[in-house]
Amino acid sequence: MATLKEILFTSLTAAGLVAADGLNARAVAAGKKYFGTEISTIVMADSSANAIAKNSQDFGQYTCENEMKFDALEPSRGTFSYTSADKIVAQAQANGQIMRCHNLVWHSQVPSWVTNGKFDNATLISIMKNHIANVVGHYKGKCYAWDVVNEALNEDGSYRTSGSIWGSTIGPAFIPIAFAAAAAADPTAKLYYNDYNCDKPGSKATGAQNLIKMVKQYGAPIHGFGMQGHMTAGQVGSASQYVTNMRAFANLGVEVAFTELDISTPSSSPNFAQQATDYATIVSACKQVSACVGITTWGFTDKYTWISNSYPLIWDTSLQKKAAYNAILNAWGSSSTPTSLAAPTSTSQASSGNATGCTAAHYAQCGGQGYSGCTVCESPYTCKYSNDWYSQCL
Ligand code: G3I
Repeated sequence: MATLKEILFTSLTAAGLVAADGLNARAVAAGKKYFGTEISTIVMADSSANAIAKNSQDFGQYTCENEMKFDALEPSRGTFSYTSADKIVAQAQANGQIMRCHNLVWHSQVPSWVTNGKFDNATLISIMKNHIANVVGHYKGKCYAWDVVNEALNEDGSYRTSGSIWGSTIGPAFIPIAFAAAAAADPTAKLYYNDYNCDKPGSKATGAQNLIKMVKQYGAPIHGFGMQGHMTAGQVGSASQYVTNMRAFANLGVEVAFTELDISTPSSSPNFAQQATDYATIVSACKQVSACVGITTWGFTDKYTWISNSYPLIWDTSLQKKAAYNAILNAWGSSSTPTSLAAPTSTSQASSGNATGCTAAHYAQCGGQGYSGCTVCESPYTCKYSNDWYSQCL
């Protein structure tokens, strides 16, 4: 039930009397499709937390935490259970938020009737195709994107077989088969490969690029690469590393997104300033790459994070905004004026950027080797040298 304050705000915003603003509003103003969050029916049952999730100025997109996984949707063979996931989709639709749907084929959260079934190759393929046809068919037209295959790679970029019923029984061919089945069930959904530790260039990112090429070679469609983005504060590095990585994927003809971003800091000695800087780095990287369509955080409040002993998200355990909130807002830039049109307000230093007539937001990158964005910081911040590859508005 909406509070009086929420109703008043919504009405005034609709009447154009209150400027719309928030994490998603800024992302959209920066040319992105969404800023979104993972959500669960557990969070929805907490009315204070859910009020935050329902604010489409902050979140333009949802991902179900567990409700669309194989074990949740097909707990026994041929029996599909959509009630919980449908609740999340209904809330998204009621608030004008789009869905990234997660996920169809993963080695984890597979029900025991699949893992213990001792199915042969042909039977397991038919089980996988039947699951995809039912689930994607059920949500046809309601998912902006599907994570079709999740985490199919080892850290060295080779295909995972150990611990994966799909990889060990079918082999890597399950991947293009899954993409083709998803495309047949919903030809309009963007079909993604999604994985962790592929956010920066390296052997696993190269493996993901090979996987995308392999899917295309089989003649199946693949439209996107999801960088999960489970990170640690202080170890995030420079925006340019993420930019380079995203461009390598974009060169293969797919869009990219950060799909599960969270930035851990220990609950025993949290460093929220560092965490805010790191969130801004990721936003800045996405902002610089046109193929980056959006960012989804893996939850929004530390009250419901999946990570023990950590405060990785944007609202604290009491549902108050943390430093990361404003850092993300500022990194996206103004909610109304495209940053490329904003007047310069302070001078830059130590940068190799070349964009003119624009300002970089607080915490955004403003210089460094290979950087080509804005080199002037919005007032009152200045461009501070961090290393040869990265200067930041502080
Ligand atoms: O549903 C059972 C319940 O019946 C049982 O009583 C209870 C007892 O522990 O467990 C429940 O299952 C839990 C499930 O979440 C649903 O709540 C599992 O134990 C628990 O391991 C599972 O954790 C999820 C994890 O994926 C599974 O690997 C996390 O909530 C979820 O945040 C996490 O999300 C993944 C993404 O899908 C893929 N990328 C990594 C990301 C973080 O691990």
